[in-house]
Amino acid sequence: MPFTETAPANGANIPLLGLGTWDVRGDVCRRIVEQALRLGYRHVDTAQAYENEREVGEGIRKSGVPRDQIHVTTKVWYSNLAPADVLRTTRESLVRLKLDYVDLLLIHWPNTSVPLDQTIAAICKAKRDGMTKHVGISNFTAALVDQAVQYSTEPIATNQIEMHPYLDQTKVIAACKANGIAVTAYSPIARGKAGGDPVLSKIGRAHRKSEAQVCLRYLVQQGIVVIPRTSKVERLSENSEIFDFALTAAEMAEIHGLARPDGRLVSPSWAPEWDA
Ligand SMILES: NC(=O)c1ccc[n+]([C@@H]2O[C@H](COP(=O)([O-])OP(=O)(O)OC[C@H]3O[C@@H](n4cnc5c(N)ncnc54)[C@H](OP(=O)(O)O)[C@@H]3O)[C@@H](O)[C@H]2O)c1
Repeated sequence: MPFTETAPANGANIPLLGLGTWDVRGDVCRRIVEQALRLGYRHVDTAQAYENEREVGEGIRKSGVPRDQIHVTTKVWYSNLAPADVLRTTRESLVRLKLDYVDLLLIHWPNTSVPLDQTIAAICKAKRDGMTKHVGISNFTAALVDQAVQYSTEPIATNQIEMHPYLDQTKVIAACKANGIAVTAYSPIARGKAGGDPVLSKIGRAHRKSEAQVCLRYLVQQGIVVIPRTSKVERLSENSEIFDFALTAAEMAEIHGLARPDGRLVSPSWAPEWDA
């Protein structure tokens, strides 16, 4: 049975569970995408920078799942944000994916060297030209979310941000919610660090779930989209079995308490000044 629960996302209805594919390449990528779709995943997350769009497309076709039942996200890389580059590289992404359109096109990282209004206008044009069904942003702070909304002529579907129990993202989540924008959590199991966490482990024992499952449940229970990555077929099922139990309010609060000031895992040199 496909996992069809969605986040509204300003009309985009993004499946709450997706497959992350960063750092998964070649045959491993082809096979994991195919297997995920066969298992019921209906959402795959890739990016120009992951150098695997070709294999993601091949995995989609091998799965036999009809294209219109799959939500495919790709992202325009940081150095491609001048309007002509947005349109040219999005076309190139579609050629690599061998798809007529993606479901969601994101600005991967903000880049102050290109005026944001111009980049936003270009992703909106990509939508009008039929290259993507929806547009969105990634790694945008609360202030940048507000700017994106102000500039965009199309609804912003999501802001894809790092999110897991060790990082407090309250401020940017509030900005997204105020604008009807879904939050998509990347690194949702803290790049594997959730495994072995004593609090997640204790809560997991009460529900007969793993630490990773508790971590993912904590996010989807808040209506947050999760895109866990795995290169291992057996973990695809584990990471998808998160819709058959619920955490109590006390458990949610305990997990929320795991956030710490040094909890952020992804902050390259070009990152914006993060929300405090
Ligand atoms: N927008 C952005 O800037 C951005 C940045 C980072 C990531 N992303 C997206 O978000 C996706 C997910 O984030 P991520 O890849 O950084 O990290 P993640 O999904 O939190 O963690 C992936 C790591 O956890 C391990 N893992 C998977 N399932 C597990 C389980 N059930 N128990 C224990 N360990 C498990 C994986 O190893 P195995 O392969 O061995 O299972 C892998 O090492 C990416 O793949 C990418 O699509 C976007």
